[in-house]
Amino acid sequence: MCGIVGYLGKKKAVSILIEGLSKLEYRGYDSAGIALIEDGVVKVQKRKGRLANLGETLKDTELNSKIGIGHTRWATHGEPSDLNSHPHVNGDGTIAVVHNGIIENYIVLKEWLVSEGYKFVSETDTEVIPHLVDYYYNGNLEDAVIKATQKMEGSYALGVISEKEPGKIVAVRKDSPLIVGVGENEGFIASDIPAVLNHTRDVYLLEDKEYVVITEDGIKIMNSKKEEIKKEIFHVTWDVDAAEKGGYEHFMLKEIHEQPKAIKDTLTSRIVKGEKIKLDSISLTKEQLENIDRIYIVACGTAYHSGVVGKYVIERLAKVPVEIDIASEFRYRNPLINERTLMIAISQSGETADTLGALRLAKEKGARIIAITNVVGSSISREADDVLYTWAGPEIAVASTKAYTTMLIALYIISLYMAEIKGTVKQSEIEKVKDGLLNLSEKTVEILNNTEKIKNFVEKVYDQRDVYYLGRGLDYAIAMEGSLKLKEISYIHSEAYAGGELKHGTIALIEEGTTVIALATQEDLFEKMVSNIKEVKTRGANVLGIAMEGHDYIEKTVDEAVYIPRVMPILAPVLSVIPLQVLAYYTAVRKGCDVDKPRNLAKSVTVE
Ligand code: M6R
Repeated sequence: MCGIVGYLGKKKAVSILIEGLSKLEYRGYDSAGIALIEDGVVKVQKRKGRLANLGETLKDTELNSKIGIGHTRWATHGEPSDLNSHPHVNGDGTIAVVHNGIIENYIVLKEWLVSEGYKFVSETDTEVIPHLVDYYYNGNLEDAVIKATQKMEGSYALGVISEKEPGKIVAVRKDSPLIVGVGENEGFIASDIPAVLNHTRDVYLLEDKEYVVITEDGIKIMNSKKEEIKKEIFHVTWDVDAAEKGGYEHFMLKEIHEQPKAIKDTLTSRIVKGEKIKLDSISLTKEQLENIDRIYIVACGTAYHSGVVGKYVIERLAKVPVEIDIASEFRYRNPLINERTLMIAISQSGETADTLGALRLAKEKGARIIAITNVVGSSISREADDVLYTWAGPEIAVASTKAYTTMLIALYIISLYMAEIKGTVKQSEIEKVKDGLLNLSEKTVEILNNTEKIKNFVEKVYDQRDVYYLGRGLDYAIAMEGSLKLKEISYIHSEAYAGGELKHGTIALIEEGTTVIALATQEDLFEKMVSNIKEVKTRGANVLGIAMEGHDYIEKTVDEAVYIPRVMPILAPVLSVIPLQVLAYYTAVRKGCDVDKPRNLAKSVTVE
C-alpha cells in the first residue's frame, strides 16, 4: 500500500513529483523515492523514512529532468529501508519502476528470473517487475510492460520509465488505484487526485488493465492488444484547499470541524422535508426489497463500526435481518449468499482490498451490492451495482472522522428509504427521523463549540496504560469507534465493552484510577447503563460520562459529564462520537504523537 506519481512535460519534474508525493503520504510514509531521466540516464534517489528525508537528500542536487516517477511506501515485503524503497531498477539501471500493490507470484517469478541470470538486491516483490520488463524489452517499453504484466498475479499500479526511450512513461493498474492527469503539453500519473490538483483538474480514471503511454505527443490509453481506448475526462470540481489543512494544526482537527458541512452535504437532495427519500440513481422497488431476505454489511475498521450502527438502524426501521461482518473475515467464512442477498459495502477510500474482495465474492454469488464510499470513481464504487456517496470531501488524516459520521448519515438514508418503500414504519415516524437528520448539522456545531470539558479530561487519559469504553445498544457501537480513535493515534491501549458484558470478565481489570468512558445516550437503556457505571465506580474507576442533555442525573455517578444536544436516540451516534474524536485528538497531541500519520498505519489499505 503505497502512493505513486509520474510526470512528463516541460517543467522540472523533481518538484512536481515531491509535491505530488506529499499529497499521497497518507497512503504510506516509511520511505520515499524518485527516478528521473537526467542527461539521458536513469537517476534514482530514495530514502528510508518520511518524504522530508528524501527532500533533504535532494536539496543540494541540481536536477533538471522533465520526466520522472515517484513513490511513497508502506512496507509489505521487506522492512522499511533505503534498499527496499522504490523506485526499483533492472540490472544495469536503465529501467525504473514504482509500484503500489503486491505481486503475489513474485517468488516463482524471482526464481525463474534468477535462473535466467538476473540478480536481486532487495527483499521486495516489486523488484521482479523491472527485471521482467527488461526480459521482455525489445525496443518498445509499452510492449515490454504488457508482456511483464501478463506474467504477474496480484495487484499493481505501475509507473515505468527507461533511458532507452527517455521521453516516455508507461503506466497500468490492476486492483490498485491509478489516475492520469491531463495538463497542457504535460501528463501525470498518480494514485489519487490530490497529487495532481495543483496542476490540472482534468483526469482519466483508469480501469483495470488499461495501459497508459505518456509522451510529448500526448496521452494514449490502450488495452493489452494495444487497441486505443477512448475515455471521458473527469473534471474535478472540489477545491484544492479542501485537500489542505486550512489553518488547523492537523488534518484530523480540520476534518473533525468539517463534520457539520459534511453531514449537511451528504443529506442534501436526498432528504428533503415533505418529499420522498431519494437515493441518487439507486432505485430499489418494493418487489425487489421484499425479495431481499438478508442484508450483509461488510467493511473494515471505522467503516465497520459505522456498519454496526447501520445494523441496528436498518433492523429497527426497515425490519430486514442484517449481519455485520469484518470484510477480511467475511471473505473466508463461506457466507450464505444468493440473489436474495443485499450487500452494503462501506469504505471511505473505496479501495480497501478486503472490502473489495468481499464485494466481488458476493457479486459472483448473485448478491446485489450497494456501496457507501467517499471517493468518486474508486474501485468499490465502480464494481458495486449502486453507489451512495458520502459527500465528506477528501479525508487525509489516517484516523477517520468526517468519513465515519457521513457513513452513518448514508446508512440512515438507506434505512429510511427502505422503510418508506416497504411501509415498515409509519410515515409520521419517517418524517420525524428526517427532521432529526436535517437538524443534526447544527447540533454538531454546538458540540464543537463546547469542547472545554473534554479537553480538560485529557489529563485523566494521556498517561493511562489502558482506557475502557462502555455502552449499550447504539452506544456500544460508538464505544467501539471511540476506542479505536484513541488507540490508533495516541497508542494507549483501549477496549470497548457492551455495558452488560463487563461483569463477565473485563471488570477484573478495573482498579483504582482506571479511566472509563461511559456512554449513556440511549434513553431506554439509561438506568441499566448507570448501574454499569456504578459497578466500575465502586472499583475505583475515574469515569467520563456522555449523556443526552436533561439526563444530569448521571452526574451523581460519574466524575465528569459531557452532554450532547437532545435528539432522537436513534440519531445520537452522529453526535456522541464527536466528543470521543475530540478526546482522542487532544490526547494524542498531549502525548506529542504524530496525529495525522500514526505509526504502522496507512490511510488506504489496498493489500490483504
Ligand atoms: O477506506 P476504508 O473506509 O475502507 O478504510 C477502512 C479502515 O482501514 C479505516 O476505517 C481505518 O480503520 C481508519 N484508520 C480508522 O480511523
